Amino acid sequence: MKREGFASRLGMIAAAAGSAIGLGNIWRFPYITGKGGGAAFIVIYLIFIVFIGMSCLLTEFVIGRRGQSDAIGSFLKLSRNKYWSVGGWLCVITVSLIFSFYIVVFGWTINYLVKSIFNIFADKTPQEIGILFSTTTSSVFSPIVYAYIGLGITAFVVVDGIEHGIEKCSKILMPLLFALMVILLLRSLTLPGAGKGIAFLLKPDFSKVTTEVILIALGQAFFTLSLGAAVMITYGSYINKKERMGSAVVQICFINCSISLLAGFVIFPAAFTFGINPGEGPGLAFVTLPNIFQQMTGGYYFAIIFFLLLTVASLTSTISMLEAIVACIREQIMLTRKQAIAIGITIVAILCIPCSLSFGPMNNTKIFGHTFFDICNLITSNYGMPIGSLIFVFFVGWFFGKDNVKDELSNSGKLPVRYFPYYLFTIRFIVPIAILIIFLTKLGVF
Ligand code: TRP
Repeated sequence: MKREGFASRLGMIAAAAGSAIGLGNIWRFPYITGKGGGAAFIVIYLIFIVFIGMSCLLTEFVIGRRGQSDAIGSFLKLSRNKYWSVGGWLCVITVSLIFSFYIVVFGWTINYLVKSIFNIFADKTPQEIGILFSTTTSSVFSPIVYAYIGLGITAFVVVDGIEHGIEKCSKILMPLLFALMVILLLRSLTLPGAGKGIAFLLKPDFSKVTTEVILIALGQAFFTLSLGAAVMITYGSYINKKERMGSAVVQICFINCSISLLAGFVIFPAAFTFGINPGEGPGLAFVTLPNIFQQMTGGYYFAIIFFLLLTVASLTSTISMLEAIVACIREQIMLTRKQAIAIGITIVAILCIPCSLSFGPMNNTKIFGHTFFDICNLITSNYGMPIGSLIFVFFVGWFFGKDNVKDELSNSGKLPVRYFPYYLFTIRFIVPIAILIIFLTKLGVF
């Protein structure tokens, strides 16, 4: 059976950038930037993207394209020692857990899109908007129903396969996302307080940079590029053997970071204009922004555009998560795409229930002092993604053979790969050391 794959370079970049761009860029990036001292945080984050993120992304593409299989199967094919496939198993578990809490936030997003269409924020005081968010997330049934709607839309795209489902959909959604972003940007930059917001984003305040902020920046670099979670290996396996992977990685990272920065330029000018503290935290998108839209002329339309943007961005990410899981089920258990999707969404549909209830009836059900939602988030970002990435770079850097790696990157010698020595040095030393420092710091050694 011929393996499915992306039909065009544009489609491949759109799909991978679509996976990378998500709630991480539009919801998480602005609020952690607000807390981490604006430009100072951004500088550190960009350094991590360039020196660590790009190499990790390229590493996942190498494993996938060389292995021509899903995350588990690629390891089985590429190494004689079957224990390496533990790396594949681990990252499939990671992506399932990420999916389970991500789909809950995706559900809130769809819910808020509906609310904005019905003009629910109109005439509400800031306090009422805050209460609206907590009642929305703490109900028992409606957040789960919205999460299932998100899951259904995701499955609807993935069922059509790589070329006709994922690639086609990404080629439509990514330009749409960009257009929505530009509309919001034009509005935000013409607000009276725009100057202050822009200054906040451009003037570094290094006094806010603590060890914790640095760790958050590194974690964000992994999260935003969907690293250590099977997705980029799976997408790598669909990349055409003639494609230049090195330049694709640079383009994907560039698009991803641009969208994060643009999100910052949308949100901060608005926050400063309406006198709202940008270090607000996770409520930024669901509480702060509806407040702002409410006070702004044309806010009704801008609210719809914003939540549509967030929906589109999340959808291309959940598509990649489902595909990573489906690829493993299909290729390891030899099922059809439809059967694999049925199993994949059932697993997520079950796991997302306690995640959603963590904001309501299960608020007090704590595992090691955290709710189920927080546990999924913490386990994946503190352990799953970094350990997954560590295994990948170790495998490619030390065990897979330098010549094999170079052969894959140069399309069997057809492309010059002048960056190769730097890449190899980074994955052999810099990435493992950076990840070990995170662990030791988190374990309190420093
Ligand atoms: N990168 C996505 C975002 O920024 C989210 C994400 C994190 C992700 N890890 C992932 C997506 C793993 C797919 C697979 O929103």
